[in-house]
Parts: sequence; C-alpha cells; structure tokens
Amino acid sequence: MLITSLSLQNFRSYESCLFTPDPGINLIIGENAQGKTNLLEAVFYCCFGRSHRTAKDKEMIAYESDESRITLHSVKTDTAHKLQIRLSKEEGRTIRADDLPLSRIGDLIGLLNCVLFAPEHLSIVKEGPAERRRFMDMELSQTYPAYFFVLQQYMRVLRQRNMLLKSIKDSPELLQTLPIWNQQLASNGFKLMQYREAFCKHLSNLAQENHRDISGGKETLNVSYTPDCDVQDENGLYEKIERAQSEDLRKYTTTCGPHRDEMALTLDRKEIRAFGSQGQQRTAALALKLSELDLIRRETNEWPILMLDDVMSELDEKRQQYLLERILPVQTLVTATQEGLSWPKAKKFTVTKGQILTE
Ligand SMILES: Nc1ncnc2c1ncn2[C@@H]1O[C@H](COP(=O)(O)OP(=O)(O)O)[C@@H](O)[C@H]1O
Ligand SMILES: [Mg+2]
Repeated sequence: MLITSLSLQNFRSYESCLFTPDPGINLIIGENAQGKTNLLEAVFYCCFGRSHRTAKDKEMIAYESDESRITLHSVKTDTAHKLQIRLSKEEGRTIRADDLPLSRIGDLIGLLNCVLFAPEHLSIVKEGPAERRRFMDMELSQTYPAYFFVLQQYMRVLRQRNMLLKSIKDSPELLQTLPIWNQQLASNGFKLMQYREAFCKHLSNLAQENHRDISGGKETLNVSYTPDCDVQDENGLYEKIERAQSEDLRKYTTTCGPHRDEMALTLDRKEIRAFGSQGQQRTAALALKLSELDLIRRETNEWPILMLDDVMSELDEKRQQYLLERILPVQTLVTATQEGLSWPKAKKFTVTKGQILTE
C-alpha cells in the first residue's frame, strides 16, 4: 500500500500543503515545533479515524479556522483510492472514501494500514498492562475489522454492566437482569481472547527474530498472552464472571474479564518492564513495532505504511543500519530534527512553519 499524495487545509499548523512521498523512504527534516508530527498525525487519522495525540478532533483544526480538510490519495492492490476527511467546528466530522460517505468508523479502519513508532511508544514496554492491551487492540482492529466490532460490543456491555452494578444498590430488583449482561460479556469476551491468543503467538515468533537481528542475538525476547481469566471456552468465562459477581456488586465494577488482560514481555525470562535497561526497552519496543509490519503484511497481503517519528536519534548507527535494510520494501515516513546517517535513496523534505518543501 502506498500514499501517493496527502493534502492538508487548515490542519494544525498547515494552512495549505501538498505532500507527495516516494514509494520508498521519505526523510522529513525540521526543527522542533515546525509541523513534522502534525503531518504524520494526519496520516494516522486517515488509518484509524482518530489522532494518536488527542481525543478531541477540534484540536486539529487550525487555530483561526472553522474547518480542516485532509485528502489522501493511495494505491492498494494496484487500485487508486481517495479518502477525504473534513473536520468542522460546527458540524463535526465527515469522511468520504472514493467519494462515498462513510457513516461508521468501523468502515474506515483497515482501508489504510499504518504502523507508527514514536518515542512515547516506549510505554508499551515500560508502563502497565493497559498500554499493551491498547497495542493488541490497535493492531488487531486494523487487521481484522471483525475484531474491532467485537471490541466495541464488549466495551459497551462492560460499561452497561458497570452502570447496572451501581444501580442495583438502590434498585435491588435489577439484580435479575445481571445474568444477561454476564452472558454477553462472556460471549464477546471469549472472542477477544481467542484473537489475542493467536496474535501473541505470531507476534512472539516475529518479535524474537527482529529482536535477535537488532540486538545481535544476545538475549531472547518473549511475548506471551496472559489472560485475566484462564479459561478454555465461553462457558468457562461465563462461570468465572458469575463467580466474581458478589465481589463485583461490592466494588461496583467488573473485576474479571479480558479488559484486564496482559501481554507479558520478557527478556531471557525476566520481565522487561521491571528489569530492562532503557536501551533494552527501546530495542524491544522497536522489535515489536517492526513485527507489526509483518503481521499486517501477512493478513492483508500489503505492506502497511511505516512512520518513524523522532526515533532515529535514539538509535545507534548499527540499529539505524539494520532498520534501513529492514524497511526497504515499505513506504516509510521518517522525521528528524537533522539528517543523521546519509540515506542516499531517501526522498528529502524540509518542514518549516507549516510549509513542506522537497529538495
Ligand atoms: N490547531 C492548531 N492550529 C495551528 N497550529 C497548531 C495547532 N496545533 C498545533 N499547532 C502548532 O504546531 C506546532 C507543533 O507541530 P509538531 O508537528 O508537533 O512539531 P514537530 O515538528 O516538533 O513534530 C506548534 O508550533 C503548534 O503551535
Ligand atoms: Mg514531533
């Protein structure tokens, strides 16, 4: 999959800009606060229908404007596509794909695939389980539209069940409706667990290989799915949820289920989060992100777009060189404050004050 052009109107710091990347590596150079991440954010938005930096669409509309427009032309399996997004302060968002309006966000996700790696992604390795669940969810959603659908259902049921747990305190007769929610939680929840288990298995193999290549093979990275409820089928999950019900009623919240899952990351069997050095954590995060490329490629038969935001300076020359070789077949957008290694084949752009120029 390739982006052939991206045009922005009144999007963040861009009043009007046209970005035409090469199919290979694109180096986007600029000082801080010039608009490098803003550009990648627009691409990310086209893939996921949301920003990676804010939950508020309005923040992306240029300060003095009422609306922003993103137009992205791409090529996927030899077919050209056009995606148009309009963010309006008054009217909210409209999305058109190949000139047809999309009403649901689920119809957008998966049309265009990307993998973004930015310094904040170290949190996948460093922070609590929520970050790793988010990683699994994002990756699975963009590869399997059905996963995104089940996840939305599960989260809706979870919210409603939690609300019900609070209401039962004042209206005890509502207790009899709880089994229906338990059932729905179990059926959607078990589907999520199956996807996640298969995902972690594939990811572990790929990440191990990538990690070995980046780090010179000294240590072994392991990824393993650690479900909150270790059960064999939907019924097993239902029973666990039912058994936890009295505790849930006391705590007014759902205490077991895949919303508490973990994806364990270890290096030579030691938890990276607790025992890894900064360098080890960085290498592990990069290995995971690169594995996403392969997973998406395997499922969709297309390479996703890779975006590396401000991470080159954190990698030593050996890792940069490895990365360069690794990403050759992938359309890549790399941002940096200055040109580091010479990447002779890269197309170069400079960004200053919301203007993007090609050399
Ligand atoms: N809604 C907006 N309208 C106009 N400018 C914005 C908006 N949001 C952010 N900016 C500007 O964008 C710049 C930051 O851009 P960014 O892409 O994050 O920089 P960097 O090149 O460091 O990645 C800041 O100067 C900020 O003021
Ligand atoms: Mg930035």
